[in-house]
Amino acid sequence: MKVAVACDHGGFPLKKIVLEVIRKGGHEVIDLGTDSTDPVDYPDYAEKVGLALQQGEVDRGILICGSGVGAAVAANKMRGIRAGVCHDTYSAHQSVEHDDINILALGARIIGPELVVELVKAFLGASFTGEERHIRRLSKVSDLERRELGLEQA
Ligand code: RB5
Repeated sequence: MKVAVACDHGGFPLKKIVLEVIRKGGHEVIDLGTDSTDPVDYPDYAEKVGLALQQGEVDRGILICGSGVGAAVAANKMRGIRAGVCHDTYSAHQSVEHDDINILALGARIIGPELVVELVKAFLGASFTGEERHIRRLSKVSDLERRELGLEQA
């Protein structure tokens, strides 16, 4: 699997560990910054990962900010992006299996270096189940997105 990773200054302290666990899992990683704790704006980094997904350059994305929330909110504004903040291992795999999330959002001010390894492994190890009820629900999510974008009548 090919994975894009980006963070803001709040997420930077966990980025190296995230990159390592992805590589150790046999996946390819694209590091889209930021590269220091100098303050930056998380929407800019959410957009980089969202674009990599939209353009088919990667299969999944991981965003790290202080709480995970800002990065997820920003990424979820992009078409076709389903980002979730998951700070427990159940959510980290169940959100892929049922909700088909394509971005895992993490908060480096909330979780530590051991838990982040488990979360990334759970996220990358999970697959969408493809069950009818989940496809139906995701199709409603896509319809909502299209209506919001004015691409079809409500
Ligand atoms: C940056 O200080 C912080 O606001 C950001 O990393 C993130 O936590 C937003 O959700």
